[in-house]
Amino acid sequence: MGGIVDFFKAVAGICETKPLDKALWRVEGDQAVVLLASASGYLPQGGAVRLEGPEVGQPVLVMRATDGTYRAYVNKCTHMGRRMDPAKDGQILRCCSVNHSTFDLEGVKRSGPAKGGLTVLPVQHESGELRITLPKE
Ligand code: FES
Repeated sequence: MGGIVDFFKAVAGICETKPLDKALWRVEGDQAVVLLASASGYLPQGGAVRLEGPEVGQPVLVMRATDGTYRAYVNKCTHMGRRMDPAKDGQILRCCSVNHSTFDLEGVKRSGPAKGGLTVLPVQHESGELRITLPKE
């Protein structure tokens, strides 16, 4: 049953990664600010959250790598723009489409029909906050 469900989720582009509650982040100028003290439960090592909405422009994926560092990407596969999920215990990112392009944590394409790597966004971790520099539109 899981195989069929997973197939239809991939066809529909439905990811496992959930949007982060808007009470836990905000935008200041060209940065998204995630309040880690409140959001850390949503970001276990190998986990990720989505930041989406008109205030960020392009969708953002925020990930906590297995080494505890935080990373952020424009959350669009360079094939057809589908979102990403962490996979293999947070060792790679995998597109939520049937074709499942994969990328390493540096955003470099590893497999699939994606045309190139992911856009990596600068992340600063300080004073209990993550500050993610948003892409210019
Ligand atoms: S959107 Fe097609 S492989 Fe990612």
